[in-house]
Amino acid sequence: MSAHIMVFDSGIGGTTVLEHIKQSIPDAQYSYFMDNALLPYGAQSQQTIINRLCGLIQFIKDESLNVDLIVIACNTASTSALSAVRKITDIPIVGVVPAVKPAAQITQSKHIGLLATPATVSSSYIDVLIKEHASSITTSLYSSVELVTLAETFFFTQRLDIEKLHAELSRLNINNDIDVLVLGCTHFPILAKPISDYFKARIELLDSGAAIAKRVSSLLNFSDNQAGIKKPLHYYATADINSDKLAIKLVTLIDPSQCEEY
Ligand code: DGL
Repeated sequence: MSAHIMVFDSGIGGTTVLEHIKQSIPDAQYSYFMDNALLPYGAQSQQTIINRLCGLIQFIKDESLNVDLIVIACNTASTSALSAVRKITDIPIVGVVPAVKPAAQITQSKHIGLLATPATVSSSYIDVLIKEHASSITTSLYSSVELVTLAETFFFTQRLDIEKLHAELSRLNINNDIDVLVLGCTHFPILAKPISDYFKARIELLDSGAAIAKRVSSLLNFSDNQAGIKKPLHYYATADINSDKLAIKLVTLIDPSQCEEY
């Protein structure tokens, strides 16, 4: 029997990670869960995010989904809630970590940028990550909620308000010395091409999708098996989405009281 992998995000951003995992393990069964009722997570408190992830664990149990592995394909949720959620379930959980380490290894200018949500950028997790892997270089932090909204709209409608995108990138005022920009939000790779175009390909954009896929493969003990059979992918959302692109089941997450102790 193939493994059942559930990929979770606040919205559609985690599909950028899902695509990498599907390439590595094509014959797994996949579910994609978006907690879009609380989108954007970048503007939520740590306790709220912990409660929602506890609700997800409860949902998996209540629906008897037999999930073998959960991927929290959301930097915001990973940086703020991963350790709390691991305490309440035996299901292995893989989180995403912004690609600060590889960025620090390849920068020529010794100056990298991290572009993420406000919650990720201000988390103590990021402080530690930078101290551990980028202490000998300069790391500038940039946060945006607007880019999450633009990525959601672009994914579902294929329409991008390029003026809004450019206004947001201009507001961020990315330092000219930066040669590698870490996309520390899983929504941002959806906009990778237009972001790269804005910088005239002068800045290399790095995300952690491929690294997560590698980690998932190693945990499930799968080798790259390209001959797999495609199984239907189930999408769940906590708020209605007007999409003719995906068949999405609308569900509710309850905040289980057990989470209050974290
Ligand atoms: N995709 C999420 C991340 O990687 C964040 C989007 C949001 O703010 O909800 O951080």
